[in-house]
Amino acid sequence: MKVRFDEIDAKLRYKLMTASIIPRPVALVTSLDKDGNANAAPYSFFNGMSEDPPLIVLGLKRRDSGPKKDTARNIEETSEFVVNIVNWEMHQGMLVTAADFPEGVDEIPLAGFTTATCDLVKPPRIAEAPVAFECRKFVTVQAGIDREIAIGEVVAMHVKDEIWDAERQYIDWQGNLPIARLWGTLYAQLGSPVDGPVPDLNDFK
Ligand SMILES: Cc1cc2nc3c(=O)[nH]c(=O)nc-3n(C[C@H](O)[C@H](O)[C@H](O)COP(=O)(O)O)c2cc1C
Repeated sequence: MKVRFDEIDAKLRYKLMTASIIPRPVALVTSLDKDGNANAAPYSFFNGMSEDPPLIVLGLKRRDSGPKKDTARNIEETSEFVVNIVNWEMHQGMLVTAADFPEGVDEIPLAGFTTATCDLVKPPRIAEAPVAFECRKFVTVQAGIDREIAIGEVVAMHVKDEIWDAERQYIDWQGNLPIARLWGTLYAQLGSPVDGPVPDLNDFK
């Protein structure tokens, strides 16, 4: 079976891509509007793409009714955001932040989360998140009429003390790994990590 993407509509492309590009991590993005109102929402068109400069990428779709989502507008207006990594204790709260609340509503307390301050950017981070990345807008790419790709540069990172091994400079997830998004409303629990070293070329002689 082959599918030519110029022969199918965007909705079907989305369905096929999100069912195949799995699992995806979830960025719970916190940001501020230009009046200082906080906002939180999850984004799973998300990944890290570079470490020098350290870049994080988000795929931000417009609302079906046309305007930018609050996260996209806030990044455009204030150039700062925080990517909070989501674990299973945060799953239900994360879903609450995805609800279509009107502009200006702070989803963070509604989701049962509390905030902590950042060091280098103004938006708050989610105190419950095991890891949070403070980001500044690097560049935003307009992709089609209803998508923006926001690339953020990480300027600081927070890791919860209980999973931070300072001696080894290592994050020890202690089995409580972040959630993974599949397709639709499905999520997956990451199982036990499996070691997979790349073979040495000498092994092929
Ligand atoms: C797990 C999850 C992942 C999501 N990923 C995206 C995404 O990558 N891009 C997007 O535009 N919307 C995504 N959404 C939908 C937004 O979170 C939703 O539209 C939200 O209301 C936007 O909030 P905001 O206007 O406060 O930014 C996702 C929703 C969920 C539950």
